[in-house]
Order: sequence, then structure tokens, then C-alpha cells
Amino acid sequence: MADTNAKLTVNGEEYELPIIKGTLGRPVIDIAALQESGFWSYDPGFKVTAPVESKITYIDGGKGELLHRGYPIDELANNAEYLEVAYALLHGDLPTAEQKEEFFEKIREHTPVHDQLRKFFEGFRRDAHPMAIMVGVVGALSAFYHEDLDVSNEEHREITAIRLIAKMPTLAAMSYKYSQGEPFMYPRNDFNYAENFLYMMFATPADVDYEKNDVITRAMDKIFTLHADHEQNASTSTVRLAGSTGANPYACIAAGIAALWGPSHGGANEAVLEMLDEIGTVENVPEFMEKVKSREVKLMGFGHRVYKNFDPRAQVMKETCDEVLEALGINDPKLELAMALEKIALEDPFFIERNLYPNVDFYSGIILKAIGIPTSMFTVIFALARTSGWISHWLEMHSAPFKIGRPRQLYTGETRRDFVKVEDRK
Ligand code: CMC
Repeated sequence: MADTNAKLTVNGEEYELPIIKGTLGRPVIDIAALQESGFWSYDPGFKVTAPVESKITYIDGGKGELLHRGYPIDELANNAEYLEVAYALLHGDLPTAEQKEEFFEKIREHTPVHDQLRKFFEGFRRDAHPMAIMVGVVGALSAFYHEDLDVSNEEHREITAIRLIAKMPTLAAMSYKYSQGEPFMYPRNDFNYAENFLYMMFATPADVDYEKNDVITRAMDKIFTLHADHEQNASTSTVRLAGSTGANPYACIAAGIAALWGPSHGGANEAVLEMLDEIGTVENVPEFMEKVKSREVKLMGFGHRVYKNFDPRAQVMKETCDEVLEALGINDPKLELAMALEKIALEDPFFIERNLYPNVDFYSGIILKAIGIPTSMFTVIFALARTSGWISHWLEMHSAPFKIGRPRQLYTGETRRDFVKVEDRK
């Protein structure tokens, strides 16, 4: 709601810019009046720009607070299942018992993928990275759901969200099975969401006595919840930007997966394990830290654009990490190395001065390794979980009038005007 105005004077002209307050967090200055001024705003990396109004997720980076639909992330992670959180992201509040049953049933109904989709997998090299496969096959879903999909129809949008959340574990597990040369496993709808994913990843048709592990299932479900949404991050903004053109939502989610893949974003969990491989042993940590301080490398899994105190997801993840390592009795030198690195970084002035703390990906990488998930699947799991957030933002955008996202630029290129023919160019 516009409360009061900020004033901006440019070239002697004064502009009144409304200040708008949300329910929480920093108010924003509405700069639309700059349109008339002859200037654009300039904000590389969108460090101070809010391109949307949203009711889904709130982050206070200073306090280390993350709320989904108003609920603190630690309460959600410790007391609700991932699919309940997904429901809240989509619908505005946690489900009642009846709504939960109905929603879970719908998700179960849509877990299988069209059999023709197998052919897309076969087009990939055996050693293709599972994220490359995910970008391709999720994008390919748009070929299965396009002609009959009307994004202006609320029911069509709703079923799109259900399909995406339901099919992501199936596709994610298929991308792994393909890389292993193992047959795809069909979803088992007597299993819950996390159990089903683990089953499709690790069971084989010969495995008639496949046994679930409750500790691993709970940890997996928490990992899903802790990655479900994170307001206007790079991949979510990508989904919104792609969606703002009216594009097919499956293609928009594929764009989100592509944005997530980078090591500064979701690819960091994989990069943490690669970094641990590179360091090798605890004795090499001081030498590695010197490289970090001289800016040769980054300490992956540390730092965050928004959290400058602590990452609340990382706190829950650390507890889960300790539980999993203890319950599984794991004694892996790589995990010991990670813990040594964490301790040194938390005490080092370089990291303290720059407010660099372990983020969610530091611990999730360690848990995933402990439960036997191959490193190349880490970011795929992040994508699976983030799909509920991405599609919630896409739904929110489509539920009200919106404009195509089209930023401006500061042009610093050449100013040549005269075209020189190739034979006259020097
Ligand atoms: N290791 C070493 N130094 C770092 C790191 C790091 N991980 N992160 C930031 N810095 C330094 C940076 O060099 C700069 O120092 P100085 O001011 O002396 O030049 C200072 O800290 C501020 O960094 P910044 O680059 O301005 O911070 P940013 O907000 O642009 O970047 C980030 C945030 C997450 C991209 C960055 O911290 C990073 O690359 N971290 C490692 C990758 C990572 O773990 N990413 C996962 C984020 S959590 C999952 C998600 O939500 O996507």
C-alpha cells in the first residue's frame, strides 16, 4: 500500500516516487515515474530490485528468517511433509486432513510419465550429466502437454502444477537409472513421495525384497522441504521471466532447471563434494584456505546473497546431517574433512568479516553423500524439490494481470554509424 513518497531530483526535475510497504520486510520505492525522466535505473545483479509483489515466501537475510506462507521453515521441516508444504506454496495455507488426502491422491495419480518419453532418454549419451537430461526431458513434457493447455484457464494451470510435482521424482530417478544402464522403475503408489523417489532410484526389478529405510526417507523429505522455495532467486526469476511471455509452463520449468544448474546456485551442492575431492585430506585444508583468501577459488557451500548472518535452512539441515550420520554409523573421511572445513571457516576472520556461513548446500551435499546418492544427482534433487516453488510462482503470476519481463540496459558499445563494405575494411 502506498504510504508516503520518496523524492528524486534528476536534471533539476523532481519526481515523486511512491513508497510501498508490504506486510513484512523493507518497503520498496516504486520507480515507474522514471519512465518520464529520460533515465533508467541501473542495478546489476538485481541487488536492490524487487520486480514482483508476492505472497508466497518471505526472507529476512539479516535475521536468518525464512517463511513459507507465513510459517517458519524449521517448523515446516520438522512437522510437515514436503507435499503439505508444496500444497501451502500452491494454495496459500497448509491443507486440512481432507485436503491433504485429496492432494496426495492427485499427486499419486500423476506419478507415471508417458511411455514415449523413454525415447527422449535414449537420445542422450550414457555419460550425459543428469541435469542435462532433466533440462531436456522436462522441456520435452511441453510436447506432451501443449495443444490442449490453455494457461489462462485456472483448472489447466492447477493440473499442470500437479503433473509437474508428481512427475519430477519419476523423471529424476529415470535420469539416474539411464546413466547407470539400469532399467527404469515404475513409481509405486503405495509409497509416500520421498520413499517412492528412493525406490525408483535404488531398487531394481530383481530386488523383490526392497526395504525402505525410515531415517533416509525422513532426511530425503526434509531435504525436499528445505529446498522447496526461496522467493525470487535466480531460477525462480527465470521461471517467472519465461512465464511472462505466456510460454508453455513445462518449458518454463526447464528454463528454471537450467538456471539452477550453475555452481553459484543449485549446482553448489555438487561443487561442495568436488571441492572436498580436490582438498583430499584434513592436512591440506590450510593450503586450500590460502587459495580461497587469494580469490583463486571459492569455498563452495559458503555465503549467500540474502543471508548475511545464517541460513535457517542450513541449521535444520545440520541437525538432519548429524542424525543421518549417527543413524547410519557412517565413518567417511570425506565427511570428516567437511566438518573440519566448517570448523576452520567459522573461526577464520576472512569468513567472519564477510559474513560467510555454511549455506543449505554445504550440509545437503554431505547428507546426500552419506545416504548413497551419487554427486551428479545432487542438483537434480534440488530441482525436484524446487519445482513446487517454481510452479507456485508461475501460478501466482498467472492469477493476476502481468507484463512481459523486459529489462533495460546501459549501452557501452561502439557508436559507429557508417557501414563499411567488407573490401574496404582495414
Ligand atoms: N568463498 C570465498 N569468498 C566468498 C564466498 C565464498 N563462497 N562467497 C562470497 N565471498 C566473498 C567475495 O569474494 C566477496 O569478498 P570481497 O568483498 O572481499 O571481494 C564477499 O565475500 C561478498 O561476496 P559477493 O560475491 O558480493 O556475494 P554475492 O551475494 O554476490 O554471492 C554467492 C553470493 C552465493 C553467489 C557466493 O557467496 C558464492 O559464490 N558462494 C559459493 C557458492 C554457493 O555455495 N552457492 C549456493 C548458495 S545457497 C543455494 C541457493 O539458494 O542457490
